[in-house]
Amino acid sequence: MAYEFIKTHTEDSKVGVITLDRPKFLNALNTELMIELGQALKAFDADSTIGCIVITGSEKAFAAGADISAMSKFSFSDVYGNDFITKDWEIIRQIRKPVIAAVSGFALGGGCELAMMCDFIIAADNAKFGQPEIKLGIIPGAGGTQRLPRAVGKSKAMDMVLTARMMDAKEAELAGLVSRVVALDQLMSETIAAAMTICSYPQLAVFAAKESVQRAFEGSLSDGMMYERRLFHALFATQDQKEGMQAFLDKRPAKFENK
Ligand code: HXC
Repeated sequence: MAYEFIKTHTEDSKVGVITLDRPKFLNALNTELMIELGQALKAFDADSTIGCIVITGSEKAFAAGADISAMSKFSFSDVYGNDFITKDWEIIRQIRKPVIAAVSGFALGGGCELAMMCDFIIAADNAKFGQPEIKLGIIPGAGGTQRLPRAVGKSKAMDMVLTARMMDAKEAELAGLVSRVVALDQLMSETIAAAMTICSYPQLAVFAAKESVQRAFEGSLSDGMMYERRLFHALFATQDQKEGMQAFLDKRPAKFENK
């Protein structure tokens, strides 16, 4: 499929890579780009050869936010009437395969929110995260006020959202916003290696693991524990659980069939 604002390719026919590609505007996220991103995510999710998806940007910017030029013209009736954000930005929430954000450069505003919508973030050492919307007379609107405090705690989230300061990669790792920081020139190789590791595991267990961790952010502890327990029990009905455990006992590599 031909896209204008993103590029896609696969690694080893297993990992689907989506590169945000509006370099002149530091990958500012307009509606057209977000529609294309949603289409690419759905296509990789539906492709049975793909086990994991990576979203990345350029060295200078993962994404410097939602497109301020487009938003400057929006009225209340435009954004409320057209269900801005909910309609085109939240497709990523329907994706069952793990999605990793590989972030270098700026991840600001909607760019930081997009990274946080992914299942985890691997950051290059030049990454900078921030929620500077307050400077524009708005607030984060794609989950930033909810996902950032869950990732870094109330105090740091308030600091970021109210002062609009940026957090560098080291601070982001210490705060728990990113899972690891790597050298800029290793960002894609490290991220693809993580994605390939995930691809080597039985897909039903991968789906269950992702769904179960997501539940930790959506409800009470006891509901989350029950959800986890039921998925854990259900995996005993899969062939891959039998194969994985037998392979361990036989001291041989497992052959998973995603069944
Ligand atoms: C539209 C943007 C943009 C954005 C950068 N550009 N960010 N265009 N929307 N979010 C454009 C600039 O206007 C400029 O275009 C070109 O990209 C290069 O940017 P510069 O500012 O010249 O680069 P630099 O001096 O290196 O500064 C980088 C920067 C700065 C610090 C990242 O660009 C910046 O502060 N950008 C805005 C960040 C921001 O406020 N993000 C939150 C947006 S609100 P020209 O044509 O001049 O070359 C948001 C809402 C989220 O995200 C809620 C709903 C999703």
